[in-house]
Amino acid sequence: MRIGLAGAGRIGAFHASTLASLEDVEQVVVTDVVPAGASRLAEENGYEFVPDLDDLLSRVDGLVITASTGAHASTLRSALAAKVPTFCEKPVAATLAETVELADLVDKLDVPVHVGFQRRFDSGYRKARDAVVRGELGFVHTVRANTHDQSPPPAAYIATSGGLFRDCSIHDFDVLRFVTGQEVATVYAVGANKGADFFTEAGDIDTGAAVLTLDDGTLVVLSATRYGGGGHDVRMEVMGSQGTIGVGYDDSLAVRSAEAGVDYPRGPQKWSFMERFSAAYRTELAMFCSVVAGQAESPCTVADALEAFRVAEACELSRGTGRPVAMTEIGGSR
Ligand SMILES: NC(=O)c1ccc[n+]([C@@H]2O[C@H](COP(=O)([O-])OP(=O)(O)OC[C@H]3O[C@@H](n4cnc5c(N)ncnc54)[C@H](O)[C@@H]3O)[C@@H](O)[C@H]2O)c1
Repeated sequence: MRIGLAGAGRIGAFHASTLASLEDVEQVVVTDVVPAGASRLAEENGYEFVPDLDDLLSRVDGLVITASTGAHASTLRSALAAKVPTFCEKPVAATLAETVELADLVDKLDVPVHVGFQRRFDSGYRKARDAVVRGELGFVHTVRANTHDQSPPPAAYIATSGGLFRDCSIHDFDVLRFVTGQEVATVYAVGANKGADFFTEAGDIDTGAAVLTLDDGTLVVLSATRYGGGGHDVRMEVMGSQGTIGVGYDDSLAVRSAEAGVDYPRGPQKWSFMERFSAAYRTELAMFCSVVAGQAESPCTVADALEAFRVAEACELSRGTGRPVAMTEIGGSR
């Protein structure tokens, strides 16, 4: 099959290379509003370069959207109009209103859309989910989750990212629903800035924390930072009356033990989301090819993405007002 890719930046170049290595993909076709980088990427890797999105849509079987967040909604609308099955990187749109509009639109159409929450394809998160589903942990009372980037993305990325909770913690919000099978009921979130000025200038934070309650009363403690200097650190602990399971605890763990004589973790650390989730990204894009081929339903829908976005929105409201926020206060409930 021929797969188009809109947005040849950091994750775009990475996904293009993964797509090109998949058996089902005959040709990768790239476009970008800044053509120079995309045409160079195409030339260097044997992809096709097509400057115009509508032209590209007429030549492909599926589209992967890896453009900047602000361009997701319009690109997805074009793909839906052209009836092209689409994989859209998270978040589906920059605002709640647009996300709701797109969820409603996708409901009315027969075009599959798969949203890029790759943790659903990570073996650790899947094992944690299985443990919950099988009741191996007894009753789950607490979840701890974190996404700590090793170092910040460029200032220009932060300016259009939507903020730490919508850009970064949104992965935790999605996988929290995936692992526990529960919806978020309330949130209380705070943020801090000790790093570069460009976070404050963009109205963003470089470090955040939140306490969430889930519908069944489970408590969630979550943290996020752009300054996890010791390595890219993404983890989840699910604690129950019969046991605890931990995702992200291997020898690459970006934590040094303070205990004498303990040589765990032995390293080396991982430094980026590409390293941490390379296997998950590959499985995710292979699954998208099955969706394009009509062999599978979307494993992560726009409706799923809307729920994660609503939690991020609640965190921003809580951070701004300094009070707990109930999810019933946030629009877009389905
Ligand atoms: N799932 C993940 O783990 C993950 C990781 C990184 C980024 N992302 C998401 O992927 C998206 C891109 O992130 P990035 O780090 O690659 O950003 P980036 O800034 O490196 O790249 C974005 C690219 O999109 C291009 N672009 C902008 N508007 C466009 C349009 N209308 N059509 C085509 N191209 C357009 C830009 O020119 C740029 O080349 C973001 O939405 C981000 O949230 C997801």
